Amino acid sequence: MRIIQISDTHISAAHPFFDANIAAVRAWLAAQQPDLIVITGDLAMDGAGDAADLAAAAAWTQGLPAPVLCVPGNHDVGDTAAIKPSQTVDDARLAAYRAHLGPDRWQHDQAGWRLIGLNAMLLGTGHAEEEAQFAWLEAALATEAPVALFLHKPLFIDDPAEPPRGYWTVTPAPRMRLLALIATARVRLIASGHLHIHRELHHDGIDHVWCPAASFVCGDSQEDLGGARRLGALIHDFGVDRVATRFVRPEGLEDLTIEPVQHILYPRPTMADVEG
Ligand SMILES: [Fe+2]
Ligand SMILES: [Fe+2]
Repeated sequence: MRIIQISDTHISAAHPFFDANIAAVRAWLAAQQPDLIVITGDLAMDGAGDAADLAAAAAWTQGLPAPVLCVPGNHDVGDTAAIKPSQTVDDARLAAYRAHLGPDRWQHDQAGWRLIGLNAMLLGTGHAEEEAQFAWLEAALATEAPVALFLHKPLFIDDPAEPPRGYWTVTPAPRMRLLALIATARVRLIASGHLHIHRELHHDGIDHVWCPAASFVCGDSQEDLGGARRLGALIHDFGVDRVATRFVRPEGLEDLTIEPVQHILYPRPTMADVEG
């Protein structure tokens, strides 16, 4: 089984700054023959603020060369009140996402693997759906099959025991709860987006892979988080018990940064509005 993962397309009808990059990724995808395409969040530029961007993102997912599974990012459904007080995850944002892009969490069995998509943006919100998702995940992980997990935010930057990393990762309490659940199953891959950085690290038998963005990289507004700031996509080849992942850079991509247009996309210059 081959899965192509792309991430952070940041599609917007009103702000076409990164359309050439997104088109280059789409053209490359059209020449591939994966079994599935997984998009790990921030499909929309501001889906949490304007459902028109969710509609534009959903339209973009039509006509791709394989079935598409998506998980939401902060730009699609918002974030915690601490991180993004102006756009917290709520019932209306979840409903809008589901209406345009389908379930925000899913389980998919194929080729002897269990694939699980999580809504990382619920973690730490206290929204009722957060507990519901944990209960659902516990059942989804009750399998003998090897598991690959897809979610927008990485669980950690360098170490599972590290302190809060603010905007960039799942916060420590839900992170530790997730890791305890994950330890009950044969989880082999945790694949995320959000950072607009390509990185692969190995911890406790699990490959933690950061998928690069398809739209833009971050410049001075993002501290050094390791890895490579470059655009691209990932190809995951699933074997009997392991996943072989490789980075691909579709032809035509240009490593545009967010900073020149950040004042247009994010008129309130707070830390919470710095892109990731
Ligand atoms: Fe993003
Ligand atoms: Fe994000």
